[in-house]
Amino acid sequence: MTKHPKDRATLKPATRIATAARQYAEHGMVNPAVYRASTITFPDVDTLVNRKQDYVYGRRGTPTSRAFETAVAELEGGHACKAAPSGLAAISTALLAFLSAGDHLLMVDTVYHPAREFCDKVLKRLGVETTYYDPLAGGGIARLMKANTRVVYCESPGSQTMEIQDVPAIAEAARAKGAIVMLDNTWSGGHYFKAFEKGCDISIQAATKYLVGHSDAMMGTVTCNARTWEQFKDAYETMGVFAGPDDMYLALRGMRTLDVRMERHMKSAITLAEWLRGRAEVETVLYPALSNAPGHSLWKRDFSGASGLFSLVLKPVGVKAVTALLDGLDLFSMGYSWGGYESLVVPFKPHRTATDWKGEGPCLRIHVGLEHPDDLIADLDAGFARLRAAS
Ligand SMILES: Cc1ncc(COP(=O)(O)O)c(C=O)c1O
Repeated sequence: MTKHPKDRATLKPATRIATAARQYAEHGMVNPAVYRASTITFPDVDTLVNRKQDYVYGRRGTPTSRAFETAVAELEGGHACKAAPSGLAAISTALLAFLSAGDHLLMVDTVYHPAREFCDKVLKRLGVETTYYDPLAGGGIARLMKANTRVVYCESPGSQTMEIQDVPAIAEAARAKGAIVMLDNTWSGGHYFKAFEKGCDISIQAATKYLVGHSDAMMGTVTCNARTWEQFKDAYETMGVFAGPDDMYLALRGMRTLDVRMERHMKSAITLAEWLRGRAEVETVLYPALSNAPGHSLWKRDFSGASGLFSLVLKPVGVKAVTALLDGLDLFSMGYSWGGYESLVVPFKPHRTATDWKGEGPCLRIHVGLEHPDDLIADLDAGFARLRAAS
């Protein structure tokens, strides 16, 4: 029999992550099996007609999916969770579950760009109006609420420019007017920001990032509170969303080490961010965990830690110089993801419609992986020498 402590509320977060959903493992093993199933058979007509068994059809759940979803719901502190085949699929499924023609969506201006495209293309075609709002709106969001505002969507920190939102104030204002509050909680891994304690109804993650943690699978999660669960689950099942069993297994496997990985990502990211802040070539470091950084006081109030993702604004310099910095890097690769064990960097141009981006110099987004920070600093130091030589 696999041990699965029952009195879970008293356990520390690291213990809960290590032991969550172990009831789905069998034969004394600590991991659940990977069930690859479409057909699930029934022993007799009564069981079939009255659905008297736990598992009825591959898409409707297996012990592998239930183990992963149960573990994520416990991590997030939500009522229940469903897995989607990518983070973007999790976002679109959650929005489609609650929005209908004629509804209004308040979407944060700093949202992950492909989610913005989903609103501008698909939701628009379906007759849903989207208004983008300033990530720093806080309780002032009340002024943007309309009679038909059905969903208020947050992402904190914001994609690329890392604005920390006052989620409790936004949630209070939104819920006072009967809207549902959704949050993209990917940056915190669900570990360092407890969405439901802060007033959210739905917490979404691109599990592709820190839950999977090893850059070898795509996965999304939608965790709901009790009041939103039935409606979400019904839409999820009706639309036929599910995730592959091998990927769900990998995501659960990755989750087991979330606590130690996040701690190391944070420690190394703080070391690098502080070093970068002292560089003459750097205008601003956008990492809320740094004292005096934008959003630091809200981060300190609402988060219990930080991940390894942050951005920086360079002093104005030409494309040739930035290219010289980036092209010669040894340890940092260029790639549009994060949350894995490897360090990454990408240049970006902020795209905003509700607010103006004030930064003048080129922007870089950095993911600090699990390599030793001294080696990462040496790599960037050599990059800055190339940047200066090419300026
Ligand atoms: C904040 C955020 N949310 C959602 C996603 C989408 O996740 P996926 O790539 O798994 O679709 C990403 C991907 O980069 C992201 O950065």
